Amino acid sequence: MSYLKEGIRIRNMEVKNRLVLPPMETVSGSEKGEVKAETLDYYDKITGSGHIGLVIVEHTYISPEGKANGRQLSAAEDDKIEGLRKLADTIKNNGSRAFIQLSHAGSNGPEDVQGTECVGPSPVMNPRKKNNLTPRELTVDEIKALVVKFAQAARRAKEAGFDGVEIHSAHGYLLNQFLSPLTNKRTDQYGGDLSGRILFHRQVVQAVREKVGEDYPVFVRIGASDNMEGGTTIEDSREAARELVAAGVDVIDITGGMCGFMGPEFTGQGYFSGWSESIKQAVNVPVILTGGITEPEAAEGLLKEKKADLIGVGRAILKDHNWPKRAME
Ligand SMILES: Cc1cc2nc3c(=O)[nH]c(=O)nc-3n(C[C@H](O)[C@H](O)[C@H](O)COP(=O)(O)O)c2cc1C
Repeated sequence: MSYLKEGIRIRNMEVKNRLVLPPMETVSGSEKGEVKAETLDYYDKITGSGHIGLVIVEHTYISPEGKANGRQLSAAEDDKIEGLRKLADTIKNNGSRAFIQLSHAGSNGPEDVQGTECVGPSPVMNPRKKNNLTPRELTVDEIKALVVKFAQAARRAKEAGFDGVEIHSAHGYLLNQFLSPLTNKRTDQYGGDLSGRILFHRQVVQAVREKVGEDYPVFVRIGASDNMEGGTTIEDSREAARELVAAGVDVIDITGGMCGFMGPEFTGQGYFSGWSESIKQAVNVPVILTGGITEPEAAEGLLKEKKADLIGVGRAILKDHNWPKRAME
């Protein structure tokens, strides 16, 4: 039997198989964050084989100061809904469930893009070193305003016809900065022990859930470990995942934290499978595993061994748009 071909139910949504196209930035939007023809063309081509169960559109900003690059897509304004609808339609017309990742770069943004601001939980430089800036510490009122912005962005995604949203808390971006003890040195309710460092996430999930309703799938992509001295550990993330599920999250998507999603230390197909297995044992919702998978047989093996419930394949599909068809056939 094929594990990859088996359908899965997420909340009240059926997904036809276990193959996920993970979020991968295209830097193809306009300077205002609009979806452009080249964005639609890219997503049409990469999903065109018709065999991807679930597609997660690249990180999309919830507020302009939190852009990660100058041509990132926006979910920060209502006038972006129309373009996002074309994007969701393109993916759904190719037979996939369409999700979109919502993000704020915090201190992991560019230095040279107008309107961005380097902010974070604490004035500590981001270990990912995408810039040379020390972030300004966010006030409690600003954090609360960002919670509302995540919820508004999720509402726009739903209005645009996306089947669900994914909240980005990985690869050194803002929510990851709150989770990580390397960047979160706060002494108020948003810092300290894990329950403090996960408070922002819980508030975001609850606000999103309130906005999109009970039936709408909400995922969180979590940097399951920073893999760095003094950073987030897998034990932290097991606890964080439990709290996120209690707050209303439907799927936990596993990747790296401050260490990013690839590197010389990560080798083999499914190099985060130890982490995804550990999180899977801690929660009762499906878990996505991505990283290094290039062969359908490896994906089958990881599902069979219960390392995860869904498998993300990024660069291999980027390289060969026919990969999903070959895998399913
Ligand atoms: C070009 C490119 C862009 C990426 N953009 C994002 C992104 O927007 N959001 C995200 O969470 N991960 C992003 N990633 C990480 C991928 O989702 C994935 O985790 C990573 O590529 C490892 O999986 P793979 O070995 O199957 O490619 C990106 C990766 C690549 C190669």
